[in-house]
Amino acid sequence: MKVLIEPAGRIKGKLTAPADKSISHRAAILAVMADEPVLITNYLEAADTLSTLNAIEQLGALVERRSEGVMIRGVGLRNAQVPAQPIDVGNAGTLIRILPGWLAGQVGSSFQLDGDESIRRRPIDRIAEPLRLMGASIVASDERHAPFTVEGARLQGIDYALPVASAQVKSCIALAALTAEGPTRITELGASRDHTERLMVNAGVKISREGDDLTIFPADELTLPERIEIPSDPSSAAFLITAAVLVAGSRLLIEDCSVNWTRSGFIEIAKRMGAVIITDLEERPSDGGIAQQEPVSDIDVTAGPLKPTTVTADEVPLAIDELPLVALMACFAEGQTRIEGAGELRLKESDRIAAVVMALGGLGAEVEATDDGLIVNGHGSLRGGHLDAAGDHRIAMLGVVAGLASQEGVEVVGVEAAAVSYPNFLDDVAALR
Ligand code: S3P
Repeated sequence: MKVLIEPAGRIKGKLTAPADKSISHRAAILAVMADEPVLITNYLEAADTLSTLNAIEQLGALVERRSEGVMIRGVGLRNAQVPAQPIDVGNAGTLIRILPGWLAGQVGSSFQLDGDESIRRRPIDRIAEPLRLMGASIVASDERHAPFTVEGARLQGIDYALPVASAQVKSCIALAALTAEGPTRITELGASRDHTERLMVNAGVKISREGDDLTIFPADELTLPERIEIPSDPSSAAFLITAAVLVAGSRLLIEDCSVNWTRSGFIEIAKRMGAVIITDLEERPSDGGIAQQEPVSDIDVTAGPLKPTTVTADEVPLAIDELPLVALMACFAEGQTRIEGAGELRLKESDRIAAVVMALGGLGAEVEATDDGLIVNGHGSLRGGHLDAAGDHRIAMLGVVAGLASQEGVEVVGVEAAAVSYPNFLDDVAALR
């Protein structure tokens, strides 16, 4: 499906962004691992997180839709049922990388996982390696990619230094640690989103952090709260925030959005570029502890001029999914913006370094790829033109935002990809024009 996005006069109004994708995946996965039922309110109803509900149903969970939320009756930590069919994760990278952490500890059971074309291009060796070290067997068609089989075994706790700053890999190992013998220590390569850790604290798991070291102790059971409320997704909100920053005369209020400090890198970068954004971001804890709640705040955005910036490697994991938007904002600043240390972008739903160069370059931007990032020479505006999302939800939404802020509008081909994380995106944008 293609849409023509005309330049917007202004973006005005208030809105609640959709539920957080990362937390929805995790809440559902922990719920299937629990013995007692859990009601998840404001669960994200999007393609990726529906794949997770299907997957946990295949593994034995009872998933019941109620008016107030999704009720999940789990099977307990060690009782995953073996599905008759392979688990199809669709486009959900978080699901295919996190779920095997639980499956790896199901002694004597084996599970097949597969996904769409994009999933089959994305590496899973990053989770296979630590799970093998713990004692599970992961058999992939070519060692690196889906489809693959997880053969559950008695796991041993390990000391593992993450080779990449990846919350998915960290979470996978943390889940495996619950059924392992002895504690597992994960040394992070810089901070990444910490939703799994927060949920584990809430589930009574013995888990602690000291500096970059996260230690997780095995558990007999997970005792989650009876009700888990999913906050709004700051990564989805970032598309609307960018539109309001770029379109002259805009004023937008995003209500009650997650401001977890491990997710707020984009807002920090945008503010550094000069964006006027008023919000109450959670502060990075100085003691290295793990917070229990997911903090929320309103986010008040006003349009204004931007200046270029340099995004450094340590900021990348805290803004990873929003970096295409930083590149778009950079087109509207005068001068050079650099995004460094972001090689992980090449392993997302698409190679997002190549995809951003292709997408913004096609709209008249001066943008080039480096090995591990992007260089954008901004000239204060963007012409517009034609953009193909090529199946990547965040590139589709990038195209829509670019269209709103452009001089001539943007035709976005494949805009339906937005449904992976934000099914109502076009309606929400229309309501704010
Ligand atoms: C996610 C972590 C990030 C992010 C992805 C969601 C998560 O991936 O890009 O969209 O929910 O854990 P990595 O952990 O591979 O960096």
